[in-house]
Amino acid sequence: MCPKNKGAVFITGASTGIGRETALFFDKAGYRVFAGVRNAQAGESLLAEAAFQLTPIIIDITKPREIENAVHTVSQKLCPYEGITGIINNAGIVVGGPLEFMKIEDFRYQVEVNLIGQLAVTQSFLPMIRKAKGRVLFVGSGAGWFALPFSGAYAASKFALRGMADALRRELDQWQLHVVLIELGTVMTPIWDKSFSDTKQRVAEMGKEEQSLYDERGAAMEKLMRSGWKNSVLAEDVAKMILMAFEKKCPKARYQFGKDARMAVLSVFVPDCLKDWLIRNILKGKIPSALMGW
Ligand SMILES: NC(=O)c1ccc[n+]([C@@H]2O[C@H](COP(=O)([O-])OP(=O)(O)OC[C@H]3O[C@@H](n4cnc5c(N)ncnc54)[C@H](OP(=O)(O)O)[C@@H]3O)[C@@H](O)[C@H]2O)c1
Repeated sequence: MCPKNKGAVFITGASTGIGRETALFFDKAGYRVFAGVRNAQAGESLLAEAAFQLTPIIIDITKPREIENAVHTVSQKLCPYEGITGIINNAGIVVGGPLEFMKIEDFRYQVEVNLIGQLAVTQSFLPMIRKAKGRVLFVGSGAGWFALPFSGAYAASKFALRGMADALRRELDQWQLHVVLIELGTVMTPIWDKSFSDTKQRVAEMGKEEQSLYDERGAAMEKLMRSGWKNSVLAEDVAKMILMAFEKKCPKARYQFGKDARMAVLSVFVPDCLKDWLIRNILKGKIPSALMGW
């Protein structure tokens, strides 16, 4: 017999942070949640907190075979007439560091996870989404509007994600399949520690001379990012907002959450030379970072 629920939802990157909170929140809200994680341990930890019908699904979104297996497992667990009410493309990483010395393979992996993997998962789940007249959500960022120094790879992935979400929305609207981009400012999640420690490692692998070129600005940027944490929002609140966007009959194309995300969007109206001057002077400590919403 098919269990009663509000519909099935597939979420990527559910082991920690926003994905974890969203998976648990949708579970409590009565959805049948398929939560993408990269190992069994992360799945067990989610199950220990789940209230309703959560199923961990092992998936690395850069691995076609794992995507295929995930689609197969989810479709086997659904009832024959059932589709997927929606997918939430949330998995993501931050590859930080100066672009001049970033290894091309690192840059490529950033785009692989934050952009190409998102499309690969979406394509594979679309037949099931179509069946339920479901929707596709992507988790974007203020960095998709405003690129900070040393976040070039991440910003490139989120700018591109915004473009891809726009195009997909305009392709799928003929069937009333909604595509929504959630654009976040700073959220307190493990992504920050992971990113700072990975970036430190990457910088340590650069030569001494290369390091010294970016030492000062890199340290100022890290300080600025850490100062942004005081305005950060909680992953639980992001999860509530994602549910709201997920359940809206006619959702907007984009939802911003966090003052810094809204400022990033508005920054398109500010001339680039002024934005460059602001960043330069904020990093020198001459202008308060609050001016940019951090
Ligand atoms: N936190 C913020 O301030 C912020 C701001 C704007 C946008 N965002 C976006 O929000 C999303 C979630 O980030 P978060 O802050 O919640 O970070 P997080 O706690 O680090 O969560 C990232 C999730 O993505 C998963 N992941 C990483 N690489 C993957 C891969 N190749 N395949 C499948 N899953 C993978 C991680 O799994 P493992 O645990 O196995 O590594 C983890 O579950 C990201 O798209 C991020 O860009 C975050």
